[in-house]
Amino acid sequence: KRHLISAADLTRDDAVLILDTAEEMARVADRPIKKLPTLRGRTVVNLFFEDSTRTRISFEAAAKRLSADVINFSAKGSSVSKGESLKDTALTLEAMGADAVVIRHHASGAPYRLANSGWIDGSVVNAGDGTHEHPTQALLDAFTMRRRLVGRDAGTGRDLEGRRITIVGDILHSRVARSNVHLLTTLGAHVTLVAPPTLVPVGVDSWPCDVSYDLDNVLPKSDAVMMLRVQRERMNAAFFPTEREYSRRYGLDGDRMARMPEHAVVMHPGPMNRGMEITAEVADSDRCTAIEQVANGVSIRMAVLYLLLGGAVFDSETVPAVTN
Ligand code: CP
Repeated sequence: KRHLISAADLTRDDAVLILDTAEEMARVADRPIKKLPTLRGRTVVNLFFEDSTRTRISFEAAAKRLSADVINFSAKGSSVSKGESLKDTALTLEAMGADAVVIRHHASGAPYRLANSGWIDGSVVNAGDGTHEHPTQALLDAFTMRRRLVGRDAGTGRDLEGRRITIVGDILHSRVARSNVHLLTTLGAHVTLVAPPTLVPVGVDSWPCDVSYDLDNVLPKSDAVMMLRVQRERMNAAFFPTEREYSRRYGLDGDRMARMPEHAVVMHPGPMNRGMEITAEVADSDRCTAIEQVANGVSIRMAVLYLLLGGAVFDSETVPAVTN
């Protein structure tokens, strides 16, 4: 079976193949007709049980640029609201002939379950599951870093070797942070997580990265600083940090950005809480890659669909817990 469930499943060669293929796909976006005939006659289903702007739209754009037929499914407004299960929803999609299912789900482990259930024959791509993983986000982040820090023609596979990447904020609830730690370390980068102690996951000691509570100390040693949103929707209201206190200790404003090396970039996966983890001044500055990340997401998702439907195997050995 050919799936993309976790960044942890990717070898360095897999990751570099996806990044290099995405570079080829980006060239398609520069053409007057931004379309390849590669997936003509194939069907990609976007199965979204959780809200999304960037991921859902970019998977749709990616599939359409490869000439696939696209079916968009949102749990809201579907028979899921009448209690239909993941299994029956999957069997319904299978009956309609899905070659690939792109799934976002609030339960960690749902894409793994779908890929290993026998309910569908097609490839499964994880578009974000609970607090577990968001592998295509990590891939588009690595692609953006490679372009900004190394250049478009890097292509050696050793291009993020030794780069120092800092990920700041709500690590506890962040599937983006988890996928980035796996992928960036596989690519040879050094990752430091910075967060309030209450937003650091238990067991982080076993992750292949450092943890710091002092943002000002880490910034001058960073090649890229990735700011994360505080995910209030996954928190008990009693544990919300106040906006003022959070932004004072862990927010990125113009003064803090000035502590970063001149070449260093600011990243954000979106959606942003302007005024909380990042000021408008930083978000709108030339050093912030948030909009480039969105554009690069289409190239990465084209590469993933192209490789999976063409026979690449990035199969999952990891069995995440289904938490709800
Ligand atoms: N970065 C990201 O996953 O954004 P969406 O939730 O809008 O898809």
